[in-house]
Amino acid sequence: MSVDMRTYLAHVELANPITTAAGCASSGRELSQFFDLNRIGALVTRSITMAPRAGRPTPRMAETPSGLLNAVGLQGPGIDAFLDRELPWLAHRGVRTVVSIGGGTVNEYGALARRLTDAPGVTAVEVNLACPNIEDRGRVFARDGAAAAEVVSSVRALMRYDVPVIAKLSPDVADIVAVARACVDGGADALSMINTPVGMSIDTETLRPALAAVTGGLSGPAVRPLAVRCVWQVYAALPGVPIIGVGGVLTGRDAFELILAGACVVGVGTALFHDPYACLRILRELEELLSARGFQRLADAVGLAHHHPPGGGTRHRADVLPDPGAPGFGAAPGGSDLEESSL
Ligand SMILES: Cc1cc2nc3c(=O)[nH]c(=O)nc-3n(C[C@H](O)[C@H](O)[C@H](O)COP(=O)(O)O)c2cc1C
Repeated sequence: MSVDMRTYLAHVELANPITTAAGCASSGRELSQFFDLNRIGALVTRSITMAPRAGRPTPRMAETPSGLLNAVGLQGPGIDAFLDRELPWLAHRGVRTVVSIGGGTVNEYGALARRLTDAPGVTAVEVNLACPNIEDRGRVFARDGAAAAEVVSSVRALMRYDVPVIAKLSPDVADIVAVARACVDGGADALSMINTPVGMSIDTETLRPALAAVTGGLSGPAVRPLAVRCVWQVYAALPGVPIIGVGGVLTGRDAFELILAGACVVGVGTALFHDPYACLRILRELEELLSARGFQRLADAVGLAHHHPPGGGTRHRADVLPDPGAPGFGAAPGGSDLEESSL
């Protein structure tokens, strides 16, 4: 049985929910050697900055158990080269393109939005808030709801009305729901989570930090439970807001887990480094899994775990789809099992 895999990012329809994660497929050219980029829901670019950036010194990647630490530091040729060469290449091929942007000041994000607003081929803009705010002692925007909201509202105000603005959140905060809510109040049409939490590794041979930058962002399967928890909490608090779930997705089952938590789109990052076909494989596995569970539409699985108490045992669609007549149908539970006291 085939499953209707269509999904929506605000009003924008995607043919299926699998996208690349920012920074893990550059601007798509390398990946296009392996498959037609139109077969995935969308290509999310690496974060584009105003000026070209060389990135951080090496070593800037280190493997950790079930994870990868990176301190690449938004390497890229800047907005001019992106608009001259990379975006037209994607637009020419009709690839659904989510342009990720990064900046050091609210004005820089705004300037990027101004450059992108009339550019053909921008499906959505994803605001990478995991950048240090140089006007606030390098405090990362994503860790401060007010600063994050200021960035989002400046991008929203300058971006064409029909291009959704997505706020990408970091898990390194005391209250992800508060930051998510601030971003939505600031005008975000959708949310993406999670960016990499900050980690560190020390080489016990050289007795030095493994990364030149000392700390780096942790990605890969190690962070998936963090991503599931963030998606779960935000979906419960803001059930109408589309969520892109990102973090440690290697298989269709992993994508399904994020979807059950509340994601309607799933980003694939680190998996691409050892399997360039990962997006297509994950899409196929997800579709097979949904079909085997009796789902006719992906949309029916989004957030479904919220309608059922925790517990074991195999469930199929007929068992798990909420009964519209049942009390509380449509109301997202508050996530009481995640209260501080039970952690
Ligand atoms: C090498 C590398 C570069 C990344 N660059 C970006 C970036 O430019 N912008 C961004 O928002 N996230 C960036 N990320 C974070 C990913 O988009 C994603 O949120 C994170 O890696 C978790 O997903 P994963 O476990 O599937 O990799 C990067 C991650 C890695 C590993």
